[in-house]
Amino acid sequence: MRIVRSLSGMQSLSSRWGGRSVGFVPTMGALHEGHLSLIRRARRENRIVVVSVFVNPSQFGPREDFSKYPRPFAADTRLARLAGADVLFAPSAAALYPPGFQTWVDVSSLSQPLCGRFRPGHFRGVATVVLKLLNLVRPSRAYFGEKDFQQWRVVRRLASDLNLPVRIVACPIRRADDGVALSSRNVYLSPAQRFQAARMARALRMAAGLIKSRGSVSVALRNVKRVLRSIPDCRIDYVEVADPETLAPVSVVKRKAVILAAVRIGPVRLIDNRLVTVGR
Ligand code: PAJ
Repeated sequence: MRIVRSLSGMQSLSSRWGGRSVGFVPTMGALHEGHLSLIRRARRENRIVVVSVFVNPSQFGPREDFSKYPRPFAADTRLARLAGADVLFAPSAAALYPPGFQTWVDVSSLSQPLCGRFRPGHFRGVATVVLKLLNLVRPSRAYFGEKDFQQWRVVRRLASDLNLPVRIVACPIRRADDGVALSSRNVYLSPAQRFQAARMARALRMAAGLIKSRGSVSVALRNVKRVLRSIPDCRIDYVEVADPETLAPVSVVKRKAVILAAVRIGPVRLIDNRLVTVGR
């Protein structure tokens, strides 16, 4: 596996892909089984696999955990190689955001609700860095986790609206045995907080079941909120049932809906979601 740090190094590689298929997995590192499932899928579906590790400053708010975000680069290198990456692209913030940088991508409506309300500017940072990375890597397919459901929708919209020559591939959420969606930030949960995170995951699963069996959004939401409110040291950012395409809130589910939640348990902000298909 080749480690590429400079933008010119990456551009010189990607100018030589020729007709070969290239799968790209953008990450912020601290790789876990969720990331690795994306890399393995890219490995199965492409001749060349590129993984990027870049903790993108522009998607963190001023009071968020940018400086504390875990950066275990040696372990990431090993894990990416074992999962089948051919290239690890790890640019610096100074190279991606040089002095004078001022061009931003705004996927307007999809960035507004849910996490957009609580993390102003977050999706602008995500959309901008994803477009920059796609331009540098020039992949045929790019892989995103459904764990970050809104991000996946924003990126899909970006690729479609700007006619990017890349297929956006969504991959299912990987969970630990206790049901908690894997996340680089889970390492900051104490055992007691971890237990509560598992209760949130269970509550969302139950709510998805309720919507599926009874179509009842209000009962499902009430149940999840009751569980979350009983968690000590927990602050709810949102729990919502939304249309998976537009992310607009829905009160009656016709065919598909997604129940999404973001909460802070102690020092950690957790997001999770469950997709529900009614009828079949
Ligand atoms: P990061 O949080 O490192 O996640 C990288 C990719 O891994 C994302 O597509 C995310 O949805 C996916 N992922 C994370 N946890 C997962 C899980 N438990 N199951 C399945 N997939 C999972 O998301 C980002 O980085 C950044 O915003 C990025 C897109 C790299 C732009 O900076």
